[in-house]
Amino acid sequence: MASITFKGRDVISVRDLSKDDLLYVLGIAKRLEQKHQPNLLRGRIMASMFFEPSTRTRLSFTAAMKRLGGDTIGFAKGDVTSTKKGETLWDTVKMIQEYSDVIVIRHSMEGAARLSAEAAAIPVINAGDGTNQHPTQTLIDLYTIQKDKGSLNGISIGFLGDLKYGRTVHSLAMALAHFKAKMYFIAPPALKMPDYYLDELEQQKVMLHETDDILKVVKHLDVLYVTRIQQERFPDPIEYEKYKNVYKVGPELLKYSKKDISIMHPLPRVGEIDPALDAFPNAAYFRQAANGIPVRQAVLSLVLGAVK
Ligand code: NCD
Repeated sequence: MASITFKGRDVISVRDLSKDDLLYVLGIAKRLEQKHQPNLLRGRIMASMFFEPSTRTRLSFTAAMKRLGGDTIGFAKGDVTSTKKGETLWDTVKMIQEYSDVIVIRHSMEGAARLSAEAAAIPVINAGDGTNQHPTQTLIDLYTIQKDKGSLNGISIGFLGDLKYGRTVHSLAMALAHFKAKMYFIAPPALKMPDYYLDELEQQKVMLHETDDILKVVKHLDVLYVTRIQQERFPDPIEYEKYKNVYKVGPELLKYSKKDISIMHPLPRVGEIDPALDAFPNAAYFRQAANGIPVRQAVLSLVLGAVK
């Protein structure tokens, strides 16, 4: 493996990470999960700038930093900052970089994280920009698949739900293209995977299949990645009403699937997964959320140059 340097790097899109980069981060996450390092980020400050709602992402970044001995500043809502008075994102970032060593940003506008990275001299990590990308969620998803299935190579994965607006799907599909995954995109036509992603995957010779019927393809899947219909991204609330209940995954699906299928979800779920599924070992979503700690610890330690 060529030598990989993460120190000082921004993590904005999965497209910026090579296959070796992805595997490297997963390896560091494993190391940090096995051996707790309470002083690794002592004296470092993470600024979290969350302009959009978040539970897991913001709190697991915060916990990851604190468990490594670091500290955090930040906000969980844009309207408590000077943005409310009209300050630009550029100016806000210019200021916050003086108060911290790394910035984690979530924003409803595609490109906001990239813009912040241009403004800041310190590393910027994208914690979700609109419908675009969510690269650290992808690293968590890869880590979970690797743990559950033993390897990322050649897995068959179904993406179910809102593939149009779901940024976690966009990021994960791009990453899995490196691992010769077979991909099944399962969505109503109005919420299908955008063509520009499908084109990009086809150029990388990914085997892909589109359908709106989960029962037609479930038997092939090693992993089913379920997503929430992204209410806040719909320009028209009536459209959302049409699709909000299109899929519901429950224990009965396991009658048609491989016995050891992993059912993943970035969470929050809002009805698309029946809680009756939680008791089955196939339900991977809470394990997936727990993996947020070692994976985000790895990302933070790498960009801060604390691990090599
Ligand atoms: C996802 C997100 O914000 O894109 N949540 C998360 O980070 N775990 C998924 C979602 O909100 O549906």
